[in-house]
Amino acid sequence: MISYDNGYFRLETDHTGYYFRVTKFLHLESIYYGERLIDKDLEPLSVKHTVIIGTQTAYDPSDPMYALDTYPLEWSGIGKGDYRHSPSEIEMPDETYTNDFRYVSHRIVRGNLKPSTLPCSYGSEDECETLEITLTDEPTQVTLLMYYTVYPAQDVITRRVSLCNHNEKTLVIRKLMSMMIDLPNRDYQFITLHGGWIREARRQVSAIDYGLRVNESLTGCSSNRHNPGFLLAASGATETSGMVFGFNLIYSGNHYSAVEKSERDLIRVMSGIHPQCFAWPLHHEEVFETPEVVMTVSCEGFGGTSDHFHNFVREHITRGDWKDQERPVLFNSWEARSFHFNESSLLSLARQAKRLGMELFVLDDGWFGDRDDDTRGLGDYTVNLRKLPGGLPRLAERLKKIGLRFGLWFEPEMVNPNSDLFRAHPEYAVRIPGREPSMGRNQLTLDLTNPDVREYIISHVSDVLDSCDISYVKWDMNRNMSDMYSPTLYRQGTFGHRYILGLYEVLTRIFVPRPKILLETCASGGNRFDLGMLCFSPQIWVSDNTDPAERLDMQGNLSLLYPLSSMGAHVSSAPHQQTLRDTTLVSRFNTASFGSLGYELDLSFVSRAEKQEIKEQVRFYKEHRTTFQYGRFYRHDPHKDNKVHWSVVSQDKEEAIVGFFQTRSFPAEGIDHLPISGLDPEKTYQVRTRPQRVYVRRFGELINFLLPVRIHPRGFVARLIDRWYRMYDAVETYSGSGRLLMSGIPLYNAFSGTYFNDKTRLLLDFGSNLYTVRTMEHPVPTEKE
Ligand code: DGJ
Repeated sequence: MISYDNGYFRLETDHTGYYFRVTKFLHLESIYYGERLIDKDLEPLSVKHTVIIGTQTAYDPSDPMYALDTYPLEWSGIGKGDYRHSPSEIEMPDETYTNDFRYVSHRIVRGNLKPSTLPCSYGSEDECETLEITLTDEPTQVTLLMYYTVYPAQDVITRRVSLCNHNEKTLVIRKLMSMMIDLPNRDYQFITLHGGWIREARRQVSAIDYGLRVNESLTGCSSNRHNPGFLLAASGATETSGMVFGFNLIYSGNHYSAVEKSERDLIRVMSGIHPQCFAWPLHHEEVFETPEVVMTVSCEGFGGTSDHFHNFVREHITRGDWKDQERPVLFNSWEARSFHFNESSLLSLARQAKRLGMELFVLDDGWFGDRDDDTRGLGDYTVNLRKLPGGLPRLAERLKKIGLRFGLWFEPEMVNPNSDLFRAHPEYAVRIPGREPSMGRNQLTLDLTNPDVREYIISHVSDVLDSCDISYVKWDMNRNMSDMYSPTLYRQGTFGHRYILGLYEVLTRIFVPRPKILLETCASGGNRFDLGMLCFSPQIWVSDNTDPAERLDMQGNLSLLYPLSSMGAHVSSAPHQQTLRDTTLVSRFNTASFGSLGYELDLSFVSRAEKQEIKEQVRFYKEHRTTFQYGRFYRHDPHKDNKVHWSVVSQDKEEAIVGFFQTRSFPAEGIDHLPISGLDPEKTYQVRTRPQRVYVRRFGELINFLLPVRIHPRGFVARLIDRWYRMYDAVETYSGSGRLLMSGIPLYNAFSGTYFNDKTRLLLDFGSNLYTVRTMEHPVPTEKE
């Protein structure tokens, strides 16, 4: 995995190689990151320095060619001639900002040398190896430790640094990134996920021009604005070809990543904690640890890079009892009842959910204090006995009798001014003395930098969790940070990071002793979807927007960095509460099934026919759940602008599910092909459309051309037909070798305005189909009754 020879470090995974060396002045020079090389001699790949550039600053008078600005580096300081952005800005013990960390020694150890304060990746001594390099700024005796951990099987290398102050005088860290690398310019595109509330994870592709491009969050959490993960893709890269680098930070607070193209045509990449308002004093012999960055590269396009990330997150980030377990199909009360429920309305939903095959009932917001809306109650943990007269234990007991596990919503990081907690402890809320605090969703943030606040949260949440049988927790967080200040801190510039450290401590102390609880984190939807949270919660709520047309974008884009099992995805009612768009029940399911599935709608308003449909959906999902949650996922390059194609293949390649999604329908469109990937080319498979219902009302007045009698298209008879008559969309069945199927089967024609029969695919706007692929030994069962 890791070797050192004659000044050269070689870090190798199964398919990738990362090489750098120690220069004659003891800086670390990046040589190469890409497909693994077999060559012993890497010298040909080093950047040559054979002229003096007019304005360059020579590092040392003995060699005028040695100018740091012209080197691709693994780490760079300030004040010694490298004029690109530095990964650090430190007020050094000598009160200057100049630092020059140079190689002193290194060691290679098996396993991962974990930081003591932060969540990080993990692996056994057989699964990974770590290189620790010690660099020192000699005049000040400040030491930088650089860590590289190599995970060969996942083609991942992680990086982080620690700073240690051996000087008697205190230094102040203003900026300390987790990693930096200079790559040769190959005309890369910078791909980030930007967004906002109910429109998370939109893909943004930017050119990397001269200067700086930044992907950052300043909201106090990793944010829905810019996910901390990003890619650098060779222009023209597709889902299956082209070089794509991936970077992601294991951190849930303000993050900062930058790519800078320099005048020497090098691309500097760095990632870490955001430096804004950051000021961390480091006293004599103190150490500051940065979060880990996960890096990978693939020459097999976006799909290759995503696959590395997916395997890595599943194997070395997600942990605990739920790591490899199938996630339950849950019912969540929020979109059905919001704050307005009582025990009997919940149990009525639960009974219906159980009949439809669901496994877990999640009681969302509104169960405590006086919480009938979002202006009150946060911070309190007394159960609202008006809504739940028997308390949580009786509800849990009754759910158990129905045959459902019980899950509960919490928002422990927050307080409403109208709450018992705030009245008793106003000092627990984040605000600045003498300043009116700004509100978000009528609430203030609790000061998690304060140990008393952490104790309060830990003891109250733990008491609730131990009061009855709770199998699942939804941990919500619904406002961005403002008025950052804590009376307990010596330097306010440590607030943001200390808050996140406090959060990690709280999560560790609540959930590590309760490994059976499945934790799903959430922050107004996907406002904190990051690897830091995935170290605690195996799944995260993607977005409050459950409209499949939007989810196609969000889930598809998040899958660039995160596996399907990590994405909470629910079927809700339509018109959707976030967009008022009307979509079919089947498309809602088809999209949500590529994730950890749940339902979130008032089942009393669901018709009998729709209930039957939901029952079939849940049955289908459970049958293929391991594949959906843990299979190899492919996004296919669309052949048409109005299509999205996904497939997921079981690890043993025995089965696959293909999702064929249409955004806007085009009239009389040309042939559609079914893309399939990842099958065994030599095996024989059968592929079959999952039968899906068509409601006659979809045809509008056209039904009168199909039926022998004339009826009102939205009238009683039409509704009655929809209730009782089961009409199916076209079902196609094919068989052939994996090779044949993967070449793309032309499908039946889509509805084109003139004709409808049992060989017409009815996709329409935001329509979709799922196709099941199984080896001939275990052919696709016939689902249609
Ligand atoms: C925001 C979450 O994203 C929703 O799912 C829901 O739990 C509400 N908060 C409850 O207040």
